[in-house]
Amino acid sequence: MGKRWRPWAILLFVGFGLIGWAASRQLGHEPLVYDDEQKGLKKQIIIYFSHVVAENTPKGLAAQKFAELVEQKTNGRVKVEVFPNGSLYSDGEELDALLRGDVQMIAPSFSKVTELIPEWQVLDLPFLFRDDEHVRCVLTGKVGVELLQMLEAKGIKGLAFWSNGFKQMMGTNRPLIKPDDFRGLRFRIMPSEVIEKQFRLLGGEPVAVSFDRVYQELEQHKFDGQENTISNIYSKGFYKFQPYITISDHGYLGYVVMMNQSFWDHLPKDIQRSIEEAMAEATHWNWKQSTEQNEQELRQLERRGGVHLYMLSEMDKKKWKQTFTPLYEEFTRQFGSKLLNEVKQSCE
Ligand code: LMR
Repeated sequence: MGKRWRPWAILLFVGFGLIGWAASRQLGHEPLVYDDEQKGLKKQIIIYFSHVVAENTPKGLAAQKFAELVEQKTNGRVKVEVFPNGSLYSDGEELDALLRGDVQMIAPSFSKVTELIPEWQVLDLPFLFRDDEHVRCVLTGKVGVELLQMLEAKGIKGLAFWSNGFKQMMGTNRPLIKPDDFRGLRFRIMPSEVIEKQFRLLGGEPVAVSFDRVYQELEQHKFDGQENTISNIYSKGFYKFQPYITISDHGYLGYVVMMNQSFWDHLPKDIQRSIEEAMAEATHWNWKQSTEQNEQELRQLERRGGVHLYMLSEMDKKKWKQTFTPLYEEFTRQFGSKLLNEVKQSCE
């Protein structure tokens, strides 16, 4: 006959059992209740894509499109989370954040790369590009490859070039047509030596201000003019403060879409292929969208009361070009003529 269990032993046994059960739940040993949303999350690769412009711009929309395409092509294995409007990093911070690996993707304007790679200043030279087709030729040809190689040497994987079209000039109180119109005025610029010198040659005073601060500083009347594309002017409402807009097409606003190189290198090969495919499609879409959107929004501005639009005549353009000649001489002195000639001779 077995030993009889005493009541205190039974209580002790049940007590320890209960404590053990509670502890195992606390430590997560209990299988989770099934949840479709959580399924496979641990295996999902998340890419943070930070940029500084509005969602409804050629860059903002292309970033969204890229995110959708990546999700489709990888069957949800990769999720691209897009952060617009500088909500994650401002344009002064995003390149460092990418190099540190705090964010995986960004798409800064060419000007914002020039601090890291001064040769990229070539793309900021005013009146460098004849038209959209010339820009496309340069960036998809030999020069594009060379520019991306320069990035690689800095630990950055360049994935594509995106477009936002040509920049126009804006003034607060008067139209900016003749070089003399710029004299004594303060201009907001992107951080770029070439752009800074461009405004100095016109007799203006350039001030580098990050894009996310432009609206606020316009409200405080901190500068008298700036340059930007129609889609940025329209989407951010800059025309409300600087309604004198000269269609000058003097400079180009393009972007390089980049990824942290080490993050890229650690991605499985099939994922890399899907990302490249998605990027090729999003890029094709962006170039078309950029032309259409800038044209459409220019029509909107034409209809808007209080906005004064001026077309820069060929004669005035010639005067601007003469004023900017020293920029070309200085670039050649600093970097030689090879890159510049390659750009000029592309698709001639
Ligand atoms: C600017 O700072 O004006 C632009 O670079 C913003 C952008 O990314 O289009």
